[in-house]
Amino acid sequence: MTRFDMMLTNALLATPKGNRARAGSVQGAVSILEDAVIGINGDTIAYAGPPLEGAASDRTVSCAGRLVTPGLVDAHTHLVFGGWRQHELRQKIAGASYLEILQSGGGILSTVKSTRAISLDELARKTAAHLGGMFRHGTTTAECKSGYGLDDETEAKQLEAAAMNDGRPVDVVRTFMGAHAVPPEYSNDRQGYLRLLTETILPGIAKENLAEFCDVFCETGVFSVQESLVILRKARELGLGLKAHVDEIDPVGGAEMAAEAGCVSAEHLIAASDEGIAALAGAGVIAVLLPLTSLYLGKPFARARAMIDAGVPVAVATDFNPGSCPCPNLQLAMNFACTGLRMTPEEALTAVTLNAAAAVGRADSIGSVEKGKKADLVIWTAADLESLFYKFGMNQADSVIKSGTLYIVREETVKQKWS
Ligand code: NIG
Ligand code: FE
Repeated sequence: MTRFDMMLTNALLATPKGNRARAGSVQGAVSILEDAVIGINGDTIAYAGPPLEGAASDRTVSCAGRLVTPGLVDAHTHLVFGGWRQHELRQKIAGASYLEILQSGGGILSTVKSTRAISLDELARKTAAHLGGMFRHGTTTAECKSGYGLDDETEAKQLEAAAMNDGRPVDVVRTFMGAHAVPPEYSNDRQGYLRLLTETILPGIAKENLAEFCDVFCETGVFSVQESLVILRKARELGLGLKAHVDEIDPVGGAEMAAEAGCVSAEHLIAASDEGIAALAGAGVIAVLLPLTSLYLGKPFARARAMIDAGVPVAVATDFNPGSCPCPNLQLAMNFACTGLRMTPEEALTAVTLNAAAAVGRADSIGSVEKGKKADLVIWTAADLESLFYKFGMNQADSVIKSGTLYIVREETVKQKWS
């Protein structure tokens, strides 16, 4: 007789398998098992497979044939910020572009102002609220970039706020992104800001262990390919993993730069060239694609099919931030992974689980439902994989299991308040 702390029965289990990113035709090789049983002990998956003779648990959940997947991993977010930017909506409607808003002192720089102005506790409280929204939609791990401080104190404050929320209920992976914009006090001295970044802020972040990764915004009018390489090389020397926002708006050779620098992931890639895609494939860099940002900025979708055909492992994330994607719902990005990026449901599932886990350096512990991995799972209201990707605009998460604890997140019946 095998006893588990918790057991799911009669699940339609859909999961990629393994401990590393999946590329090319293998990206869509998802295992689908009907009438599956998942046994959990503590915070770990102890069994996942066909019904097991003699298995029992005091906490047994019948999934009634519904879909169960790994917990979702959102591999690219900017979720710690001081305030929203609703005032930009009218500028956008009037035709201002993302870079025009940034160059006029708005955009990222207006979030820098609001983020510098609030206390660590207030920032942590806002971050917790965002993480709660993500969790209710099935996200169990989220990467979180700084980059709304652009000085040593506020960058550290953002990363500390992210850590205060780690594990409650979403695990947070921290990325330092001081190279998100040049702050206003250095607008006439970019060399001075580059020196501050590489000589003071980055070493401080590494010393205090405030981040695992370093990211740069390599883009026209932001940081050049050469500047990005200098920052990333310094980060590598300090022991950080590397990521880069590249070719989001203009094809500046950012994908090639990310491959040359040895990045774990290259992110956005809307305008990446064929040469850039080949460079990513050659260097084994994971492409983190952000279809909701394409949608919100009115840009084309990244060329996911060309990337998969070239053998680049593709992950999909929200890019949740107050400017180019004020939406923390990864399910919506999954819908547009299919209809916009033209990925199959199986490829898209791998993109938000195992490949996303690899992009944040966690593929050995999360990203699939397999014995020994962390018990992070979603039970969906959907009865099959297609439904999860086909329906959009409603939350299809029923229950989320995070580190072995089950939370019911489905929307309950509407209640009248003043009855
Ligand atoms: O990934 N591209 C740079 N950074 C974010 C946007 C940040 C903002 O507008 O506040 C992005 O889209
Ligand atoms: Fe981003």
